[in-house]
Amino acid sequence: MVTAVYPGSFDPATYGHLDVIRRASVSFDRVVVGVLHNSAKSPLFSVEERVNILKKATRDIPNVIIKPFNGLSVNFARENEAQVIVRGLRAVTDFEYELQMAQTNRVLAPDVDTVFLTTSLEYAYVSSTIMKEVARFGGDLSKFAPPEIIQALQDKMQEEKDNKENVQ
Ligand code: PNS
Repeated sequence: MVTAVYPGSFDPATYGHLDVIRRASVSFDRVVVGVLHNSAKSPLFSVEERVNILKKATRDIPNVIIKPFNGLSVNFARENEAQVIVRGLRAVTDFEYELQMAQTNRVLAPDVDTVFLTTSLEYAYVSSTIMKEVARFGGDLSKFAPPEIIQALQDKMQEEKDNKENVQ
């Protein structure tokens, strides 16, 4: 049985992430998606919210499990008895960072390999960061994520706005 972990921030998940998860679920027996808890990026959604969003969005894929994690991706891989770390590659601009991360992970854990899935062309431009930017300015989000994730994002943006107004 080959288990893959797919670590990431998923703040929130996009069609690009869901495409990688779905395709990984075909190639590997089990895919454990790891939602990074201690991100230096100060995420918009809490780790519980990001996990729940992903659980809902992948509920129809039986061999996919969603879990929060702390610390190193290679440790998360070992804890889940995974032989493989999966990452998506959208464009050449992703490559340098992803290569460095894969090489670091290989030094830390030579028994865990990184496998890159190239993102489907229709999602090549999609990122959580850009989706949040479009959401902040009220743009059309329908090409970025499924309706329930868009709703969660719009609710969160409204919550942020209300909090700001209450402080002022
Ligand atoms: O979705 P992201 O933000 O591109 O995911 C990045 C992630 C979570 C895969 C990366 O930051 C990570 O692996 N963090 C855990 C810490 C770690 O293992 N660092 C060593 C590899 S650089």
